Amino acid sequence: MDYITRINRAAETIKNAIGTADIAVILGSGLGDFGNELKNAREIAYADIPGFPHATVKGHAGKLICGELVGKQVMMMSGRFHSYEGHPMEDVTLPIRVMARLGVKNLIVTNAAGGVNLSFSAGCLMMITDFINLSGKNPLVGENLDEFGPRFPDMSNAYDKDLRALALSCARELKIDLKQGVYCWMSGPCYETPAEIRMTRILGADAVGMSTVPETIVAVHSGMKVLGFSCITNMAAGVLDQPINHEEVMETGRRVRGEFSALLTSVIEKMN
Ligand code: HPA
Repeated sequence: MDYITRINRAAETIKNAIGTADIAVILGSGLGDFGNELKNAREIAYADIPGFPHATVKGHAGKLICGELVGKQVMMMSGRFHSYEGHPMEDVTLPIRVMARLGVKNLIVTNAAGGVNLSFSAGCLMMITDFINLSGKNPLVGENLDEFGPRFPDMSNAYDKDLRALALSCARELKIDLKQGVYCWMSGPCYETPAEIRMTRILGADAVGMSTVPETIVAVHSGMKVLGFSCITNMAAGVLDQPINHEEVMETGRRVRGEFSALLTSVIEKMN
């Protein structure tokens, strides 16, 4: 099956099973259960969507949910695909192409990330202002899909300026200390070395992680507006004299879940 056919078939299946929405959210590590907040929710497992890859990471359920949140139809992706799992870039970003086909206009991407900025601490929420791609990969390599977007898409406003202003005002209203910063995509799956983290700091990164950038690039290519948030689940390698482990990452994610959900809900409510 060629790529466009895969996209179209997946989109058709999803539309028939759960419908569609203007707003979509990708739930990062530990945030998977935000999907429970949707009213009149319909869901479909990735395994039941033809052409969809399968999620393999603990804490990522692997389903799409569509339902109502503060009066708006919202689609949520519980479980995403990472290149470190061995998925080719076209699989990592297939769900974003499918969302574009389904008419999604605004995409909120979330993740767990390591704090590079020394003023951060575990449990901080950071709005992503920009990204640095140190993965060596780009999901747009290959023949351009002209029906989605241009060969050389502009990335100077990858995280939409107006949506960022909206998120800041929501955070202020909720009295959430929302940090802002640059997210650096590293390929993983090992956590970074202290030397790599010092390098990313010199380059201007505030947080590091193993996701989000491929989805952002493809969403921008498709003309969507993107808003991104990182939950700083741990300080990055070498900042504290302690090892980093996946359980800590998940645990911090759970700890700030309430605050994170409140912020996302408020942003979605005020999005137009
Ligand atoms: N590095 C990369 N990815 C991550 C980290 C980290 O420290 N924490 C959570 N995801």
